[in-house]
Amino acid sequence: MMAVSPLDLVLRPERVGDKLASTDRPYLTLKAAVSLDGKIATRSGQSQWITGRKAREFGHRLRERHAGIVVGINTVLADDPQLTVRLAESPARPARIVLDSLCRIPLGARFLAADGARRLVICGAQAPARRVEALRKAGVEVFIGNEARPHVTEYLPFLRESGLTTLLVEGGGRVHANLIANREPDELFLMVAGRVIGGSEAPAWCDTLGVDTIEQAPRLSLSPPLVLGEDIVIHGTFHFGSQSPGEEPDANPGERRP
Ligand SMILES: NC(=O)c1ccc[n+]([C@@H]2O[C@H](COP(=O)([O-])OP(=O)(O)OC[C@H]3O[C@@H](n4cnc5c(N)ncnc54)[C@H](OP(=O)(O)O)[C@@H]3O)[C@@H](O)[C@H]2O)c1
Repeated sequence: MMAVSPLDLVLRPERVGDKLASTDRPYLTLKAAVSLDGKIATRSGQSQWITGRKAREFGHRLRERHAGIVVGINTVLADDPQLTVRLAESPARPARIVLDSLCRIPLGARFLAADGARRLVICGAQAPARRVEALRKAGVEVFIGNEARPHVTEYLPFLRESGLTTLLVEGGGRVHANLIANREPDELFLMVAGRVIGGSEAPAWCDTLGVDTIEQAPRLSLSPPLVLGEDIVIHGTFHFGSQSPGEEPDANPGERRP
């Protein structure tokens, strides 16, 4: 029997096709590198590197396959990530997208480097006009939502409309939690390291989700776990359908936002 590669699980055409045909949203893959207790950073904010080389390379393979990569502003401020595909043979330049209500992103952030990739800042209605202007002058696309904080019902259709049909969401925990609370993600990749971080102040990959009951906890169908170097890849597909045991009771998903 042929060995299954984690790449066999990524962006299955029938799943992507179904999502794109039935909604005005992009197909969303959540990804995080976590400790055994689900932490994405230590309490002092250190997150590099929780997982090993092979898992990090797999992260680049995931980036290569998606049209855009999404992060929250806290991740940019904490880690100053490049969010590029760093694989010798790959020409891929996925768009880089940050959710940043007040356009706090520093103009010198590595994320904004002009390297031929689209760079987008998704901000809220109160973003200062001079910061929006400065970003646009630097060739960055800025989407201004109608609410103080960008909301999924606005920014996801915008991103899809602008040609970004598949997005890899790389965190942090607040962005993941907000998307799950709004029933938007399609699949999840957790790269799990054999480490324990602990501490209630250390962020987890979706810790602001906080459901009250097990019944409300969104469900995923899990693929068999795969070993990647010293880490394990957990892959799952979300089920938010009306018959799902993971369905949240609130009938107005647009209102959920941790
Ligand atoms: N191990 C890993 O794989 C990994 C990956 C990424 C990050 N990290 C770590 O995670 C930590 C940061 O995570 P975090 O949870 O604090 O922050 P985050 O998810 O990176 O960013 C959250 C911020 O994004 C902004 N935002 C705008 N629109 C939003 C929306 N619709 N939903 C949610 N947030 C929205 C908000 O700030 P405004 O209100 O100012 O807009 C919010 O506070 C850092 O320590 C970083 O190192 C680890």
